[in-house]
Amino acid sequence: MEEKQRETGQGSLVFAINGQRFEVSSVSPSTTLLEFLRTRTPFKSAKLGCGEGGCGACVVLLSKYDPVLDKVEDFTVSSCLTLLCSVNGCSVTTSEGLGNSKDGFHPIHQRFSGFHASQCGFCTPGMCVSLFGALVKAEKNDQREPSPGFSKLTVVEAEKAISGNLCRCTGYRPIADACKSLAADVDIEDLGFNSFWRKEETREAKMSRLPLYDHIHEISTFPEFLKREIKSPLLLDSERYSWCKPATAEELQSLLKSIDADSKTRMKLVVGNTGMGYYKGLEHYDKYIDLRCVLELSSIRRDEEGIEIGAAVTISKTIEALKEENNRVFNSECKIVFKRIALHMEKIASEFIRNTGSVGGNLVMAQRKHFPSDIATILLAAGASVHILTGTLHEKLTLDEFLERPPLDSKSVLLNVKIPNYAAVKNISSEMDSKLLFETYRASPRPLGNALPYLNAAFLTEVSCLKSSGSVVLNKCRVVFGAYGTKHAIRAKEVEKFLSGKILTIGVLYEAVKMVKANVVPEDGTPSPAYRSSLATGYLFDFLFPLIDISSKILGGCSDEYCNTSLSKDAQIKQKYSQLDHVQLPTLLSYSEQVLELNHDHHPVGQPIKKVGAALQASGEAVFVDDIPSPTNCLHGSFVHSIKPFARVKDIKFKSKLLPDGVSGLVSVRDIPKGGENRGCTTSLGTESLFADGLTQYAGERLAFVVADTQKHADIASNLVEVDYGIENLEPPILTVEDAIKRSSLFEVPPFLYPKQVGDISKGWAEADHKILSAKIKLGSQYHFYMETQTALAIPDEDNSMVVYSSNQCPEYAHVTIAKCLGIPEHNVRVITRRVGGGFGGKAMKAIPVATACALAAHKFRRPVRTYLNRKTDMIMTGGRHPMEVTYNIGFKSNGKVTALQLDILINAGISVDISPLMPKTILSGLKKYDWGALSFDIKVCKTNHSSKTAMRAPGEVQGSYIAETVIEHVASTLSMDVDYVRNINFHRYDSLKLFYDVAAGDSVEYTLTSMWNKLAASSSFKQRVEIIKEFNRCKVWKKRGISRVPIVYQVFVEPTPGKVSILSDGSVVVEVGGIEMGQGLWTKVKQMAAFGLSSIKCDGVENLLDKVRIIQADTLSLTQGGMTSGSTTSESSCESVRLCCEVLVERLAPLKETLQAQMGSVRWDELICKDMNFDVLLILTFRCSQALRYLTVEVNLLTGETAILRSDIIYDCGQSLNPAVDLGQIEGAFVQGIGFFMLEEYTTNSDGLMVADGTWTYKIPTVDTIPKQFNVEIHSSEHHRQRVLSSKASGEPPLLLAASVHCATRGAIRAARQQLHSWGCMDESYSTFNLEVPATMPAVKELCGLDSVESYLQWEMGRKSRSG
Ligand SMILES: Cc1cc2nc3c(=O)[nH]c(=O)nc-3n(C[C@H](O)[C@H](O)[C@H](O)COP(=O)(O)OP(=O)(O)OC[C@H]3O[C@@H](n4cnc5c(N)ncnc54)[C@H](O)[C@@H]3O)c2cc1C
Ligand code: FES
Ligand code: FES
Repeated sequence: MEEKQRETGQGSLVFAINGQRFEVSSVSPSTTLLEFLRTRTPFKSAKLGCGEGGCGACVVLLSKYDPVLDKVEDFTVSSCLTLLCSVNGCSVTTSEGLGNSKDGFHPIHQRFSGFHASQCGFCTPGMCVSLFGALVKAEKNDQREPSPGFSKLTVVEAEKAISGNLCRCTGYRPIADACKSLAADVDIEDLGFNSFWRKEETREAKMSRLPLYDHIHEISTFPEFLKREIKSPLLLDSERYSWCKPATAEELQSLLKSIDADSKTRMKLVVGNTGMGYYKGLEHYDKYIDLRCVLELSSIRRDEEGIEIGAAVTISKTIEALKEENNRVFNSECKIVFKRIALHMEKIASEFIRNTGSVGGNLVMAQRKHFPSDIATILLAAGASVHILTGTLHEKLTLDEFLERPPLDSKSVLLNVKIPNYAAVKNISSEMDSKLLFETYRASPRPLGNALPYLNAAFLTEVSCLKSSGSVVLNKCRVVFGAYGTKHAIRAKEVEKFLSGKILTIGVLYEAVKMVKANVVPEDGTPSPAYRSSLATGYLFDFLFPLIDISSKILGGCSDEYCNTSLSKDAQIKQKYSQLDHVQLPTLLSYSEQVLELNHDHHPVGQPIKKVGAALQASGEAVFVDDIPSPTNCLHGSFVHSIKPFARVKDIKFKSKLLPDGVSGLVSVRDIPKGGENRGCTTSLGTESLFADGLTQYAGERLAFVVADTQKHADIASNLVEVDYGIENLEPPILTVEDAIKRSSLFEVPPFLYPKQVGDISKGWAEADHKILSAKIKLGSQYHFYMETQTALAIPDEDNSMVVYSSNQCPEYAHVTIAKCLGIPEHNVRVITRRVGGGFGGKAMKAIPVATACALAAHKFRRPVRTYLNRKTDMIMTGGRHPMEVTYNIGFKSNGKVTALQLDILINAGISVDISPLMPKTILSGLKKYDWGALSFDIKVCKTNHSSKTAMRAPGEVQGSYIAETVIEHVASTLSMDVDYVRNINFHRYDSLKLFYDVAAGDSVEYTLTSMWNKLAASSSFKQRVEIIKEFNRCKVWKKRGISRVPIVYQVFVEPTPGKVSILSDGSVVVEVGGIEMGQGLWTKVKQMAAFGLSSIKCDGVENLLDKVRIIQADTLSLTQGGMTSGSTTSESSCESVRLCCEVLVERLAPLKETLQAQMGSVRWDELICKDMNFDVLLILTFRCSQALRYLTVEVNLLTGETAILRSDIIYDCGQSLNPAVDLGQIEGAFVQGIGFFMLEEYTTNSDGLMVADGTWTYKIPTVDTIPKQFNVEIHSSEHHRQRVLSSKASGEPPLLLAASVHCATRGAIRAARQQLHSWGCMDESYSTFNLEVPATMPAVKELCGLDSVESYLQWEMGRKSRSG
């Protein structure tokens, strides 16, 4: 190391990664740390999930050393946005740097593994580093001393540590538990199911089983050699790296001046570079000026007049400074303002963005590009001012003036922002005591993590009490709103003027609220404009209304208390109910219970063993396709897609002037070799083209594949492709299902796939006392959002053959397609899939064209070609769940029993057939969970000019189940009956189940739904809770709760799957199966089954067979006919094939074992195995039903439309689970994905059908703060059954359907809100009939709860007061 140090070229870029020294002699200044890690180091644990700071997959720990103070500063960063040059002299720690398979895993890895917190594993390394970052930060807190084995982290900090990280598999609960297990204040009994201990063990025993965390001897994040090296500052050679790092404002000034002379230089001022996450344009800059070390920009100064924050100070550091308790400069009122600002800032982005993103960068983005900033709003309300430097001109402006100016030019620098000490400058009237009140608000789809607000607001007012009347006078006000579709945050000056000096009364508030509505008007084109305006009125109301009654309380010195409770009049009620439902806990999640019955009959099958490779996934050593090192000469591809739904493609060419170096060319339909076909996908139901051929048929269609030397160059080049479209003489595209019907554009559904009508519909109509006719339901799409985007690597091999590594749920189909496309025999193609970073159906059909395009490009260029789709392209091209429109007629009796249901369903299948003909059957399977008396339907699969819709977890079943619930709710609201009663009365009895499901109903003992229904009611005291909720809704004005329990019945089909078991000469076992490991635990169950199957040889040592079994990657030439991993049952069928293989092997080994035993008395497993053996088996199983129930409570905030899920209880029948830990993970994960579908994920397209919610900024999947606060799951073990694999039932997809209960409970809460509006005289009798959209986003919920509810309430209050005299 010393040697290397001496070798260091002056001014070189030097840093450490996981203790290893890196010196980079030249690099483009726009290179990110993630790019470098993934392409130029062996450390692949940091993953690319979004490239825009929104997912946390790339999080690493960055450490800086201060040689003067001899101190190391550690913080997490998103490596996808951090520029490499900015880490000069720093140390980087990735998950494999914390621990690994060679040196030993870190306790974080072990705990993630033991708490079953990793499924596909793609998010796991980022999660582990986020947690590690929080641990390191907490360790620096001198005031805490944890007990041995724990860290200084608190439970609250542990949960928040991962609030910016996305996981699409687990549902977060086990991740939160793994994090909390390290917290000093955790009650170990509150932690969920894990593999470390059994529930009944003592606290001490449990503690002793946790992998030890030793906070004293934690790993060193900054290597000594680098400390020595940076004793003298490591200055980068600014010429060589085009990276300047001025130290003073003067240096900065002269730098900017020198650049002036050469105006061609594209220069960028940069601090954290997180702005690139939003303004993602793949722009190129010639020079960067790093502002972080400019003295004037990097310091925080406090004086009597306020706090001055350098523009380059990070948001995290600003929060720390504003929260500083022991600061004597400011009085308590001022501290409250600062604390409020800090608390608001903690909701901006995520920790790893706030750690590098600066306050100045945020304000400049807001000023220059109208970024919907939170900081601008809250600082505007706090009366902040800014200092700007332009050339030699220094200007001090108020923030209002700054925001209103024309956009700052690229040479102007924001030096600092000053937040005044309001208390020091306020003018207190001598006759009255006055108090300063300050509050901030934001409404965003996710309360904590990474979600821009629909609107934010901040209010500051100085109030005093008129001693004579006890009324409150508003002396001064600042009323600010921002981010609602306005150029920048604004002060509602008219409102401020109106309020100032007024005695606050309901009438005054009413007038102010009306003024706000008129002033806060989003610009044209802003989504949900009326909702945003109503938020503004709601927030002003929330701020001022409590003052009308509680003047004495505020002026008695309780302003902080006031600030802590909105609508504090409700405080007592709040407290009472919070005890029941844990809403007021400081933590995000409360104790959740997991009840699992273990089945020991087939040991080790049935045991909750850890997921195979979980620790490897946590450390980031598990190899995904994009982690495979690039072979020599490898090229990279990027798709060009159409933006028109139906047009002629006249020409495709590069805007050549800006083209980066290294572009090899384009691959398109013209490159299909002779004998090959334009084939992108093959299934038994049909085919899809690889590229558009002359005519594009949907926006998002693949037109070409640009190939270049790096993925970045390929992505830049594909953005620079110009496509010339023509639409002359073409019919308009078909963009709606109605158009498709008009133009008879339909896919045929083969009769054997079309479901059968049930019962006698005319009899059902005749029996009905009531009828509802032509009711409508509209359901949109859902994007899979697997964390690993589509990826493949194709390597040409000898003799015209092709090896393709593909992240793929059905490699067999990719194999066939590639052979067809290249026009080569199938034995010349080999597709290998080791693991998939989440699939959920999206890597079935949709992975095939990606693999095929790589193979075609590799064939053309005779070089390896790989691709890793960027998130935007992936979202646009993948398609998603099938949208549909449903019209239904219901006949029912006065007691709520449905006698006839008739449905017309139009499915929007998009352009190609994919799996769409299966949809009618799957929809009906989910829908038939109730006894409808008679059921008739007409289902049409419409072919439209949209991307083809594809399988997505529980395709069809989830919509069917939801339609069923909507029908039940409709009947209940029409009859004004309790919906739970109507559900109950329409439950299947076994005979009706048999009628609706035929053989899939199984035996009567298998129908466990009614018993589970009763059990759930008893265990979660359902009735009592219903009463409590009624009482809550009666007492509370602005919060309403809803409760719902829904059943599901899920029919699964088992496809044949091959298996191969080989016993090697040392007794170790290798297993191959057709099923693909995607996080669902397939390998784990297969491993258990192999150990169980072989152990029936009953010789010594078989009890340890589990450790001897290894499952290996799928290889389409090694194990043919692998089929598709889908439909929840591939784990079971793979297990069954392995069990049969084992049976044959045991049969073969038995004679030898008998002989040896006779000779030696006993025989050991490894003695018995003297030669390799293997065997392949195919099998076919029948299909069965799974059943489950959910009970759920939600709370809706009527001012914002926000829904919080307070508690959920699931009972899920897994039959005899093969691995309850794995099944638990599937249940929780699927359920949370369902929450996304029903509550959050808006799949928005433009008028051409192009997906526009195409990234983490606009497409919001659930995060840890949106899952149920209490998330109880019981895995119910139903009877043994010989027709199921060792009596197990599927768990991968069915639980997703249960999430409809969140929607139903939300409807319940909305109904209560509308009933209240009715009682205020603002809604007629029809209040209980309404249609809640899917997803039930905040705007959708608020709209139903009344966009004018605040005005209505105030009017009603005024009327009430005047009536009562
Ligand atoms: C995932 C994510 C979520 C986010 N969520 C929120 C949110 O909820 N609310 C919110 O308010 N913000 C949010 N942000 C924005 C975030 O606060 C800003 O990206 C960050 O503060 C910018 O600081 P930076 O140092 O990284 O700026 P950079 O990216 O380095 O710079 C941004 C721009 O400002 C210019 N610039 C920077 N400093 C100066 C200066 N001193 N003088 C002149 N020009 C300068 C740069 O040239 C560049 O054009 C989010 C960002 C991300 C990535
Ligand atoms: S890849 Fe960096 S945050 Fe998503
Ligand atoms: S385990 Fe989190 S994304 Fe798969």
